[in-house]
Amino acid sequence: MARDSGGGDASSLTVVANRLPVEVAADGQVSVSPGGLVSALSAVLSDGDRWVGWPGAGRLPSEHGQLDGVVLHPVPLTPFEMRQYYGGFANSVLWPLFHGRLREVELNRTWWRAYRTVNERFAATVIESTPLGGIVWLHDYHLLLVPRMIRRRRPDLRIGSFLHIPFPNAQLFSTLPWRKEVLLGMFGADLIGMQLPEDVDNFLAAAERCTDAVVRDRSIVLRRRSVTVGEFPISIDFEHWDALGESVVKAAAAARQRLSAAVVLLGVDRLDYTKGIVQRVEAFGELLDDRLLDPEQCVFVQVAVPSRSDLPAYRDERDDVESAIARVNARHPRADGSPVVCYLHVGLDEAELATWYRAADILVVTSLADGMNLVAKEFVASRGDGRAAVVLSEFAGSSHDLADGAVIVNPYDIEAIKHGITAAIGLSDEVKAARVAAMRAVVRRHDVRRWAEGFLERLDDVSVQSRRSAS
Ligand code: F6P
Repeated sequence: MARDSGGGDASSLTVVANRLPVEVAADGQVSVSPGGLVSALSAVLSDGDRWVGWPGAGRLPSEHGQLDGVVLHPVPLTPFEMRQYYGGFANSVLWPLFHGRLREVELNRTWWRAYRTVNERFAATVIESTPLGGIVWLHDYHLLLVPRMIRRRRPDLRIGSFLHIPFPNAQLFSTLPWRKEVLLGMFGADLIGMQLPEDVDNFLAAAERCTDAVVRDRSIVLRRRSVTVGEFPISIDFEHWDALGESVVKAAAAARQRLSAAVVLLGVDRLDYTKGIVQRVEAFGELLDDRLLDPEQCVFVQVAVPSRSDLPAYRDERDDVESAIARVNARHPRADGSPVVCYLHVGLDEAELATWYRAADILVVTSLADGMNLVAKEFVASRGDGRAAVVLSEFAGSSHDLADGAVIVNPYDIEAIKHGITAAIGLSDEVKAARVAAMRAVVRRHDVRRWAEGFLERLDDVSVQSRRSAS
C-alpha cells in the first residue's frame, strides 16, 4: 500500500511487539517466533521497515539483523526482567484480568515497576530507530505504556496501537491499581485498535471512569489532540491456508487412516486456561458415557501447544487437561489399544497443522474468553472441500465473523457443548458444504491483508485530522 509520508520518510513503518519475528535460544539457535504476527504483517512490511522486539534468551547474530528486508531491532531483556515483566505483569496480571479474571490476578508492585522499565526500553529503541514522520505500530498488552513514552519525545511520529486480546469491562478494569497510568499510556497513540465493538465500548467506558478524558463518539478528546478508538477484527492469509489445505490432502488421508475412525473431532490451542480445553474433553467424555458417541467410531485429536510453562497457572492447567484426557481414555478403551482422545503436546508447523485441519470432520473451539481465535479461521480456509463443521464458542472473537456457518455454543455449559458436537456431526453433507462456504467467503473477504491495510489507512486519516486540530 502507498503510505502517506506526513512530511517524513514515506516508506517508514516500525512494528513494535513483545517478540521479534525470530527467537534466539540461549544456545544461539535461531527459530521463527510463535504466533501469527509475522505472517499477519508481511502484507504491509516493506524493505527498510523496522521491527522492535525481544530477541529471546540469546543474542541476535548480526547475520540475522534483517528478515525479508525488515531491519530487526532487538530489545534484550535479562531472565529476571522477563520473569517480572512478561511472566509477571503481562501474563499474571494483565492476561487474567483482560480475560475476565479466569485466574487470580496477582497485584505485585515489583512486577509493575519492571513492566514500566521494560516499556521504557522498548520506547527508547523506537525513538532511536524511527525516522522523522515515521509510522509506529505497537502490538498487544505487553507494551501499553509505550505510546505515551514515545509521543513525549517524538511528537512527529504517527502512533497506532492494536490490542490482540479482549478489553475487560470497566468495573473489572478499574480494579487494577495502575489503571490510570495504563490508560494514559495507551492515550499516547493516535489510533487504538481493538478486536470487537464490545472491546471498544469497554475501553471507552474505562477511560471515562478512570481518567478525566472526555469521550465523544469513538474518540478520547484530550486537551490538544484526540485519540480514535475502533474495532479491527484480525484475520489470516486466506489464500495461503487455502493452498496449504490442498497441498496436504494425501497426508491428511494417511493421518485419518491411522486414527481408524469414522468421525474425527479436533481441538488446536495454545495450552492456556482461557481455551476451555478441559470443558470440551469432559463434554466429549460424557457423550461417550451417554453412548451418544461410540469410541470405535469417533476420536478426538487435541493439539495443545506448550505455552508460558514457567508460570504456575499454566502448569496447573496442563495437569488439569492431561488428567481430564486420561480419565476419558481410561473409561473408554478402544479395541485396538489406541486412545479415544489423542493428545499432542507439541508445537506444529503450518503444514502439520493444515494436515490435522484437513483430516478432521469437526473443529471444536470452546474458549472461555478469546480476543479472536485464528484457528477457526485457518480451519475454514484450509477446507476447500467443504466436508467439515465448526463448533465455536460464543466468547471467541471469531464467532462474530463465523456466526452464519459455525454451531455456536456457550463453553461454560457442558450440555451446550455436547449438543453442539452432536448437532455438528449430524449436519448433512449439503448443509456442511453450504456453511463452510459461507464462512470461507467471510474470511476470504476479510483477510489479514485487509486488516493490516485497513488499520494503517485509518491511522493515516486520523493522524492528519489530529494534526489539523492541534495546529
Ligand atoms: O493472543 C495474544 C498473544 O499475545 C498472541 O499475539 C500470541 O501469538 C500469543 O498470545 C502467544 O503468546 P506468547 O508470546 O506469550 O507465547
